[in-house]
Amino acid sequence: MPLENILTEMKKAISEITDEQALNEIKTKYLGKKGIITEFSQKIKDLPLEEKKTFGANLNKIKTVATNLIDEKRLDLQQAILNKKLENESIDISLPATKIPFGSPSIMEKIIEEIEELLMSMGYDVVDGPEVEEDKYNFELLNIPKGHPARDAQDTFYLQDEEILLRSQTSPVQIRSMLAGKGQKPIRMICPGKTYRRDSDDATHSHQFMQIEGLLVDHEVSLSDLKGTFDIIAKKLFGKDCQTRFRPSYYQFTEPSVEMDISCHHCKGQGCHICKNTGWITVSGAGMVHPKVLENCGYDPKKWQGFAFGFGAERLAMVKYGINDLRVFYTNDLRESQIFDRKEMD
Ligand code: DAH
Repeated sequence: MPLENILTEMKKAISEITDEQALNEIKTKYLGKKGIITEFSQKIKDLPLEEKKTFGANLNKIKTVATNLIDEKRLDLQQAILNKKLENESIDISLPATKIPFGSPSIMEKIIEEIEELLMSMGYDVVDGPEVEEDKYNFELLNIPKGHPARDAQDTFYLQDEEILLRSQTSPVQIRSMLAGKGQKPIRMICPGKTYRRDSDDATHSHQFMQIEGLLVDHEVSLSDLKGTFDIIAKKLFGKDCQTRFRPSYYQFTEPSVEMDISCHHCKGQGCHICKNTGWITVSGAGMVHPKVLENCGYDPKKWQGFAFGFGAERLAMVKYGINDLRVFYTNDLRESQIFDRKEMD
């Protein structure tokens, strides 16, 4: 190739490329050890003396221009990459900000998470329901008609015409789940959530508290399935030695109904002030879903059975962490999380 053509050809090659690797190849082709320009410079020694000078000067010029062409193109390519990156990274100020986690989990959060994780591993869904609820779901469809004395026990906050209320229990979420299942689908759900009653706040009562509702509906479900499930939950929360038992009870929406007790882990069942010397602590109401409730929600009780339970979340936490005043959970005293940290370290 004649010397004069080198730059023209090189410029053309450079204009056609779009990435640095191709640029490096061009650099090697022209300026590398065996490159075209380098090979020309090796020819100098064979030239007659008078030509050597001009040829050498010429070649040097070409070399400088060629090097500059490469460097400029490299900058252009890098700038293009940067521009593209900036374009893609343009900030969308309408996106929600990243949440920065801070603080430590509250005891209640921890207990709920523990139960959620366990039951999810057993195929349960964690569902939500409204805290402002209709009388129909909170009572009526749960087999507690208007005027029924059972309503008195749950002194309810009504918001409007005795029809809209703050839910006094999480059991209405059972109803909502069954209605959604349309009498066709098996159900496994838990619903942790806030509940409200017109109680005066003291060491064991609060106008707002947490329940963890559970419901399983399927074919051939029996009370022993409930017992097994409760046993697994109790052992997970209170350790392998924890014993469980049922005591007969009464709820409108379950038949039979039971109270679920755990052996007192404080005195190991010997009897102490925590278990009021009985060796047992009640942590949940439960039972087999009443056939009438199944029917109310479109499930044929001849084909479907179910069990349900409702833990008092504060009660569980108080028993687990040896807390004797429920108000601890609602007074925003940071020492609450220290109770938890200390127990976790034990
Ligand atoms: N909802 C009941 C209460 O607040 C607790 C309860 C009892 C829930 C039995 C249930 C159940 O699901 O089967 O007192």
